[in-house]
Amino acid sequence: MPPIELKPDVYWIGVNDRTTDLFEGLWPITQEGVSYNAYLINDEKKAIVDLAKALKTDEFFEQIDHVMDIGQLDYIIVNHMEPDHSGILSTLRRMAPHTTILGTEKTRKMLETFYGITEGVQVVQDGETLSLGQHTLKFVYTPFVHWPETMMTYETSAQILFSCDAFGSYGALRGSIFDDACTVPAFYEQEALRYYVNIVAVFSKPVLQAIEKLAGVPVSIIAPSHGLVWRKNPQRIVELYQKWAEYATGPTEVGITMLYGSMYGNTEKMMNAVAQGISQEGVPLTIFDVNHTHVSYILPSLWTQRGVVVGAPTYEGSLFPPMAQVLDMAAQKRVRHKKVARFGSYGWSGGAQRHFERLIEPLKWELTDSFEFTGSPSENDLKRGEELGVQFSRLVKSSD
Ligand SMILES: Cc1cc2nc3c(=O)[nH]c(=O)nc-3n(C[C@H](O)[C@H](O)[C@H](O)COP(=O)(O)O)c2cc1C
Ligand SMILES: [Fe+2]
Ligand SMILES: [Fe+2]
Repeated sequence: MPPIELKPDVYWIGVNDRTTDLFEGLWPITQEGVSYNAYLINDEKKAIVDLAKALKTDEFFEQIDHVMDIGQLDYIIVNHMEPDHSGILSTLRRMAPHTTILGTEKTRKMLETFYGITEGVQVVQDGETLSLGQHTLKFVYTPFVHWPETMMTYETSAQILFSCDAFGSYGALRGSIFDDACTVPAFYEQEALRYYVNIVAVFSKPVLQAIEKLAGVPVSIIAPSHGLVWRKNPQRIVELYQKWAEYATGPTEVGITMLYGSMYGNTEKMMNAVAQGISQEGVPLTIFDVNHTHVSYILPSLWTQRGVVVGAPTYEGSLFPPMAQVLDMAAQKRVRHKKVARFGSYGWSGGAQRHFERLIEPLKWELTDSFEFTGSPSENDLKRGEELGVQFSRLVKSSD
């Protein structure tokens, strides 16, 4: 895409990635894509804020050529060292060797360990300002949003917050970069949630601290390093991030995520009976077959809904492995404080329930009901399952 002007002399010069299958080598973005948003300020002094992954480098440099001569670049502002933003740094440094790289003290150390860069690096302090001429930049430390070295950069005259990973989203940009021109806001909000839970949720406390720190700062544009640039309603994405961050410890939404896995359909039959019970109570229900859905898409539902129902059989004395993997990732991502119920089929002496209880210990999920049956569920078993659905739904509705 060509450079896009956010405000006079402030340009988006990002890279739209529709090639990478797995973000961080882990999270699927084959269908959705992602953007690495970089920004260029073409003032008396010239600065680039945030960079991009080492991908489509020609396109990246052509965007800069549209606006200015790369040899005249004065500053590279590294808000965050993760290679989805810093990957292009070595090449950029070769093309503009006299630039100064600005970042936190931790960034300075990482520049050496990641790229062997020790020269032309200047550490900026929290709250420090830098005048480029007409534009003044202020650096705001926001550690652990997403890494320890991370900061944001605030442009004071146009009130643009270059927020890096915070307020970001999966989803390649579709022609326009702005929220007001976006015809599919629901897509970006859904992908912002998936990105939040996959990437940022573990750092929910630092997210809330950053939002609090910036509370008094007037912001007319939020320009994150992934996804839409928010200029019509920048408050919208802040509110969403705040809500999701608060879910880490506070009340979540009334709803149930049902996770199931089944080798031969016995546990699946029961899943349908449980779903019938839940639907009778009118509680929003999302069902995932853990074998067919990547955990990336399951985590947002687990994060936002307060109830979880797990249906999985015994496999070699343990819980069906694909289910164990999902629960393991939920623990990794600190999806805490849920109500949970479990059911599952077994063939002879079981073992899944014991394993399941061990797996939910680090999650601090409250097990409210569980039952197992042998082989194919009987009529009575299915009634029991439907009843579990009803009772569990009532519990979810009345809890917080
Ligand atoms: C590979 C494999 C391993 C199994 N291991 C056990 C086991 O260790 N203990 C047990 O009680 N049942 C075991 N079973 C039996 C299943 O739990 C039983 O067939 C159950 O009905 C499967 O439910 P599903 O149709 O929902 O997959 C195993 C079955 C398979 C195919
Ligand atoms: Fe990051
Ligand atoms: Fe990132």
